[in-house]
Formats: sequence, structure tokens, C-alpha cells
Amino acid sequence: MQPLRLLDANRNIQNLKILLRVDFNVPLQNQQVSDATKIIKVKPIIHSLLQRGAKVILCSHLGRPQTKGKTGFSLAPIKQEAEKIIGNEIEFITDNFKATIDQKIKDGKKLFLLENLRFDPGEEKDSEIFSKLLAETSDLYINEAFSCSHRAHASIHGITKFIESYAGETIVAELKALNAIMLDSKKPVTCIIGGSKISTKIDLIINLLPKIDYMVIGGAMANNFFQHDGYNVGKSKVEDNIEDTIKSIINESKRNKCTLILPMDVITATTFEDPGSDKPLDKVNDKDMILDIGQQTVLQIQEILTQSKTVLWNGPLGFFEKDQFANGTNAVARAIGELTENQKIISIAGGGDTFAAIKKSNQENKFTYISTAGGAFLEWLEGKILPGLKVLEK
Ligand code: ADP
Ligand code: 3PG
Ligand code: MG
Repeated sequence: MQPLRLLDANRNIQNLKILLRVDFNVPLQNQQVSDATKIIKVKPIIHSLLQRGAKVILCSHLGRPQTKGKTGFSLAPIKQEAEKIIGNEIEFITDNFKATIDQKIKDGKKLFLLENLRFDPGEEKDSEIFSKLLAETSDLYINEAFSCSHRAHASIHGITKFIESYAGETIVAELKALNAIMLDSKKPVTCIIGGSKISTKIDLIINLLPKIDYMVIGGAMANNFFQHDGYNVGKSKVEDNIEDTIKSIINESKRNKCTLILPMDVITATTFEDPGSDKPLDKVNDKDMILDIGQQTVLQIQEILTQSKTVLWNGPLGFFEKDQFANGTNAVARAIGELTENQKIISIAGGGDTFAAIKKSNQENKFTYISTAGGAFLEWLEGKILPGLKVLEK
């Protein structure tokens, strides 16, 4: 990968409008931000640009409103949390971006947040019209969202054709840290993949297999594998039409001598309020939802971890937001934390929710490194040049 274009620290940006692509796709519970790490991370960048006299226009996506509908996906609650964290008033811009911002700048406003970029279908289509519409709002563009740079979307990719564009400091720092740690990494390498973004992450697993010795699959990601093995998964989250991908992962893991580890027992419940019960896979019934890995599986993963020298982790192993389904994730976080602290392994975790889960288990200071990037982290591990970074190369 070529070096990235960076904004000159001595450049006079007084009164320039800077469009800052951030990742405010933060975990939410009942419309409240439950983990603000991604916001806290860009706070110093925003302060620095404001101090240099720039007007800062923040933009981000939140969730998947194009498939799930807009309700619950406004950035309005995140704007409120961001105001508290950053300590500045933020103007929330929902439409007519350029004209509204220009008017508010005349009124003395300095910091703005655009409504969820994915409310416009052009964002995910990387459309020229939407890219231009975003570019027109500002004089310069800076991408501070490493965690979104695997998406060839308008605010990450298309926009760079229409405005002077740079990679931000947090991207440079993240790449530097990840590269340095991976240079030091030793075999055996264990990769743990969980979470719920099955469709976006399942394909990445195949490409990682040649680099990995043990591939542990948990969280909702494991459910399609259970189905493939003929088990009933009841009402659990599954992805349609990925049977061929599952078969390829199983075949490729054998070909690459990468041991595939799937849960042998699971915690199920019929509602999210149930306490949950630990069951072997063949006891899951039609009404059950699989919401965590079971105790036998935890022991199995702990054993694999003790045989590893490098551990990479993306995706919580259960519905960790509810305490009764957080045990698997907590136990694995503690095991990795302890092994790292005792210098037995190098550990890198990635993902907004994974970060939140590790924090919840009080292990965040023990890991070698935790990135806020999930899918982007996995694609980076594959060795891919992320489309959002490619367009920012010198
Ligand atoms: P990250 O943000 O770390 O990249 P993801 O966004 O892929 O991770 O997945 C995180 C989400 O996955 C969490 O909200 C968690 O509750 C959910 N999850 C994990 N396991 C399950 C499961 N078995 N069933 C439903 N949701 C799950
Ligand atoms: C993330 O949470 O990993 C990033 O915000 C990217 O989100 P996406 O998978 O919805 O593109
Ligand atoms: Mg997530």
C-alpha cells in the first residue's frame, strides 16, 4: 500500500469548511449511546480543526436504514451524546446540506453533523450525484473512519473525486499500530469471529483461513454452520442462501490445515428476558433462540487460547448486551486479557460492539490493541487494500 495523503499541519485552514467522515455508527440501546468509544476517539481531531479556525462538518452512517427502514436510525440521539463528549454545540443538518450550512455559518455556527448518510440511497450505491452533493458542502474532506473504509460508498470513496481529500490522523495511527503488532505476531494464530453481521463477514472467513491455525466461530455467525450439520436452530438469527459459502469454508479449512472450531453447546432462550439454558446442539427446539455459547464451548476456546501465540478477535460470542447472554463473551475476553497480561499471547480485537463487550468485561487495558473497526479490520487482516484508503494514496 502506498503512503496516504495527509493534510499539512501548517496549512492555513482558517474559515475553510472541512467535511470529516467519522464513524458514529455506535452501539445504541433504547436510542441511547451504550458505548461512545468511536466518538471519544475523534474528539481531539475535531477540537484541533476548530482551534485552527475551520468549520467542521461531521458525517456518518448509522445501521442499515435502506433495508430496515429509517425508524430508529436517525443520528439525532448521537448528536446529543456527541455534544456532551465534545463539549461544543452541534448543528444537526437534515436536508439541503450546503445551503443550510452556509446560512448557519453566517449566523456564527462552527460545528455541524449531517443526518444519517444512508438515508440517501446514493450513499451505499457510491452514486456520483450524492458524492457531489456531499463534496459541495465543503472545501476539504478528511476520512477519520478507518472502520468504514472497506465500504466503497459515496462518503468514503466517490466523494474523493470531487474534493481535495485526505486521510485523517486516526487512520494513520490505527494502521501504524496494526502493522507494528502484526509484524511481531507469531504462530499459532487463532482468529475468533462472532457477531451478527453474517452476510458481510462470512466471505471474509475463507480468505483468512490460509493465514490462521485455529478459526473459532461463535455468535450468530455459527448458526448457519449448525444448520449445515443438520441441527435445528429454532428462531435463531440465520442468513439465507449461504449454504455454498459454508461448504467452501469447511473444505478450505481442511485444505489449509486450519482447524475450524464451532460451539458444541449453546445458551438458548425463547424471549430476550428469559434467563437462558445451556443445551447441547441436538436439544435446541423450534421456539429457541441461540443467544450465547455454552460452558463446554468456553472451556474448549480457553484451551485453544492457551495453545496460541497470536489471537485476533472480531464479533461478540453472544447477545452480550443482555447480561444473561454475556457469559461466553466475558469469559473469552478474560482469558485473552489474562494471557496477554502474562505475555503468553499478542491479542488484537476489532469492532465497535466487540470493543464495547471487552470494555463491559473490564479487560480493555489488557489487550495488546483494540481497534474500533470490525469488517474493515477483518478485510485489512486479509491483506486487502481497502477502497476508502486506496483513493487517499499519494
Ligand atoms: P462488531 O461491531 O464488533 O464488528 P457485529 O456488529 O458483527 O460486531 O456484531 C455485534 C452484535 O452481534 C451484537 O449486537 C451482539 O448482540 C450480536 N450477537 C452476537 N451473537 C449473537 C447471537 N447468537 N444472536 C443474536 N445476536 C448476536
Ligand atoms: C462498523 O460498525 O463496523 C462500521 O461502522 C461499518 O458498518 P457497516 O458494516 O454497517 O458498513
Ligand atoms: Mg457492530
